This record gives sequence, structure tokens and C-alpha cells, in this order.
Amino acid sequence: MNELTRTLILIKPDGYSRGLTGTILQRIEAKGYTLKALSVVNASEEQLASHYAEHVNKPFYPGVRDYMMSGPIVAVIVEGYRVIEGMRSIMGATDPTTAAPGSIRGDLACASSDDTIRNLIHGSDSLESATREIAIWFPELA
Ligand code: CDP
Ligand code: MG
Repeated sequence: MNELTRTLILIKPDGYSRGLTGTILQRIEAKGYTLKALSVVNASEEQLASHYAEHVNKPFYPGVRDYMMSGPIVAVIVEGYRVIEGMRSIMGATDPTTAAPGSIRGDLACASSDDTIRNLIHGSDSLESATREIAIWFPELA
């Protein structure tokens, strides 16, 4: 039996500023998942350091932090059966240049002039990450 689970999605600043929020949410709903909470926010440095705890000491982190603070993001709690792996599947691989066509990243993003990977969307990678990340972006619901 599958249990209803929740994942944390972020539409990153490139997605929001390019007007792709609706397109991305439409793909999530078309897949069959349910939007349970949605918030347009400007990420703080503290939220990002916590959200990207596994990356915070990596050489690419300052670029990711600046990217994620470059404009508003949309935080979304998405619910469904096997939603964590399903969202990772429809998002596509991290690198948008080679992410599969048909995926959000593969269809709607590409490389830019610097090394920071701007790939439109974040999705939790495990149940533990989802629980931790929902508490960061929706503390009132945790
Ligand atoms: O987001 P995902 O789980 O697919 O990838 P990650 O390896 O956990 O990296 C988190 C995010 O950091 C990516 O989605 C990219 O936006 C960014 N990143 C980057 O800019 N340069 C890298 N070498 C690796 C990741
Ligand atoms: Mg990750």
C-alpha cells in the first residue's frame, strides 16, 4: 500500500522571473498531485544555509546562495502517492542541458554564462529531507 506523502518544491528565482510559475504548477497538477500550501517569498541567507545544509561548504554554494536570493521564489507543499520520487522524475536531472526532454528542467531551462546551475525547480530527495525542508519554508505547518 502507498501512503499519501508530501514534498517541498521551490520554484527558483529564474522560474518566477521568467513567468513560469503557472506552467510548472500546471505540470505538477497534470501529473495528478495536489497543491497543499503555496507562498511567494524572498529567501533569507539563514533559510538557504539550512535548506542546502549538505552543500553549504562546497565551492559552488556561494553562487547557489546568490542565485536563490536574486529574486522571489515560490515555496509549495505538494501531496500525492510516491510524490517525492514522482516530482524528482518530472523535474529531471540537475543539469538542464542534459536533463531529459519532457522534464521541467529539460524542456524549460539551459546553461548560462557562469557555472551556477539555474534549473527552475527544487524538489526534496527523501522523506527525511521533505520533513526538514517543509519546516524551513512553512514553519507554521511543521
Ligand atoms: O537540485 P538537485 O537535488 O537536483 O541537485 P543538488 O546536487 O542537490 O544541488 C542543489 C542545487 O545547487 C542544484 O539544483 C543547482 O541549482 C545548484 N548546483 C550548482 O549550481 N552547481 C553545482 N555544481 C551543483 C549544484
Ligand atoms: Mg539535491
